[in-house]
Amino acid sequence: MHAATLTRFGKMRMAVDPRSEAGRRLRDIAAGCPSPGNAVGTVLLRNVSVSFVSDHSLAVVSDVSLMIRPGEFVTFLGPSGCGKTTLLNVIGGMLLPTVGEVSIDGVPVTAPTPVCNVVFQQHSLFEWMRVADNVAFGPRALGHPDPRGEAMRFLRLVGLEDYAEVYPFTLSGGMQQRVAIARALATAPSVLLMDEPFGALDAQTRSIMQEELLKLRHSVAPTVIFVTHDVDEALLLSDRIFVMRAAPGGLKEEIAVDADLRRSDDPMRNESYHELRQRILAQIREETLKVFNRPDGGR
Ligand SMILES: Nc1ncnc2c1ncn2[C@@H]1O[C@H](COP(=O)(O)OP(=O)(O)OP(=O)(O)O)[C@@H](O)[C@H]1O
Ligand SMILES: [Mg+2]
Repeated sequence: MHAATLTRFGKMRMAVDPRSEAGRRLRDIAAGCPSPGNAVGTVLLRNVSVSFVSDHSLAVVSDVSLMIRPGEFVTFLGPSGCGKTTLLNVIGGMLLPTVGEVSIDGVPVTAPTPVCNVVFQQHSLFEWMRVADNVAFGPRALGHPDPRGEAMRFLRLVGLEDYAEVYPFTLSGGMQQRVAIARALATAPSVLLMDEPFGALDAQTRSIMQEELLKLRHSVAPTVIFVTHDVDEALLLSDRIFVMRAAPGGLKEEIAVDADLRRSDDPMRNESYHELRQRILAQIREETLKVFNRPDGGR
């Protein structure tokens, strides 16, 4: 039996009764007036470890502690299998940690809630629903008085209001991901988790999506926790980057990214950017070589 317990997993989560305290807070957040004293989007991980075996040996994530501030954009970078998705699942409440705890705005995360929403790499839309219904799904489940209007508001934000009545399969990959982002934002989450959301897109679409996400960030501003394998994407988007160790996954280094770096027209020509990029690439390579058991770099 697995020691880490999978909790209810739903791509749209409806666990909140609109009449409850959590429901009230969500409505407040949606209305842009968070309850007094509530920091919106503070994520705290305390000594989080995850093991999938019953005796708790072979941790895939080991002793991760960190705090993410409201509105901050942080990215996890690291070799394949180091536990990035596992960490997102723990923060999203889809997976309970074996040891340690996670809280959002002081509330322990024990199951998925609409306070924290997810954008996956692909295939996350409801194929049988029109685009507008996909986006309206969360607001409707939360008892929003005008789910359709809310859906249109977020579709406008991602530039897809003209596609409200079509089915997702008629859209390109990039457009589908924009719908997925609109859908995730439509529940007004205070935390948005994005697991390689642009990984399946071609380079040009990906670059446009990155720009769109930067713009959206400033208009809706939830805390974003992002996973990517692309160092330039991480440097372009993030306030902070966590480079992860190879298994058992943990934090190898935390890097604050100076916003001025990404504002420059051609960051690759900027010496500090170049140095930072090389340093991160070297760290990831070091960890990746451990996965392949090639400490000499295979030379
Ligand atoms: N449900 C599960 N049961 C058993 N082992 C699992 C489960 N989910 C993940 N793992 C293991 O945990 C480790 C971390 O997986 P995870 O998917 O978090 O890695 P990742 O960093 O997201 O990798 P990638 O970059 O390839 O997406 C892997 O060794 C994986 O096999
Ligand atoms: Mg993953």
